[in-house]
Amino acid sequence: MKRILVIGIGAGDPDYLTVQAINALNAADVFFVMDKGAAKDKLVALRKEICARFIKDHDYRMVEATSPERRRDEGIDYKAAVDELNRDKQAVFERLIEDELGAGQCGAFLVWGDPSLYDSTIRILDAILAEGRLAFDFEVIPGISSVQALAAKHRVPLNFIGRPVNITTGRRLAEGGFPHDVDSAVVMLDAQNAYTQLEGADLDIYWGAYVGTPDEILMSGPLDAVKDEIVRVRAQAREANGWIMDTYLLRKRGVKE
Ligand SMILES: C[S@@+](CC[C@H](N)C(=O)[O-])C[C@H]1O[C@@H](n2cnc3c(N)ncnc32)[C@H](O)[C@@H]1O
Repeated sequence: MKRILVIGIGAGDPDYLTVQAINALNAADVFFVMDKGAAKDKLVALRKEICARFIKDHDYRMVEATSPERRRDEGIDYKAAVDELNRDKQAVFERLIEDELGAGQCGAFLVWGDPSLYDSTIRILDAILAEGRLAFDFEVIPGISSVQALAAKHRVPLNFIGRPVNITTGRRLAEGGFPHDVDSAVVMLDAQNAYTQLEGADLDIYWGAYVGTPDEILMSGPLDAVKDEIVRVRAQAREANGWIMDTYLLRKRGVKE
């Protein structure tokens, strides 16, 4: 039986790798490296660095595949575009598992951050198994997500005592405003500075870009006071690097604990 490991490699710093992830790296014969867009070279290089640093006395192969990209045509329905993207990714995964992995071998997908958070690898492997054309076992190894890395860097808890925290996207924040029934929200995948629309909402923001990498930038403070500076710094960093990965925590001000 072929075996697949979905390994969370943490969100930037190679030191985020867990002992379980390092053991999993040392069990794999083939690594499937999937990346896309402007960040591709840096992210592929980081995965290679991780393998070179943590794999001891064990032969392995790296197979790079270009991850299909979501269609961004004007007016295209977001959900339909994501479904189409996942179908395309499924075809790439199937080819990799079928052609690049021998019977009894172990393959690994190195997933940025944690595989359970805004990542489709688990969903795609489930879809392949459900179709029944390929058979394999798979296991998921958790990683340090960008959410945990951000909170640690700012030395801030995600939730107030006994209170929930909402993890959402920039798109949803822009559409629906600050989530109801929570006083803490983490926002990911925000290409449009959705936080700027929350002026006057009496929030603190804890923002981080490229967290855990040498390019890391952290900013925090009352949202109304720092949002324009974040927009400026973000645009500058995006321009300098050609891409940006940022996440932020929004918390209501003045919550008594
Ligand atoms: C497709 S999601 C993947 C999330 C990943 N699975 C995780 O556990 O963090 C990509 C989003 O994660 C966030 N992100 C990932 N790595 C980051 C980092 N090092 N610094 C800041 N944000 C990051 C950004 O919001 C980015 O748009």
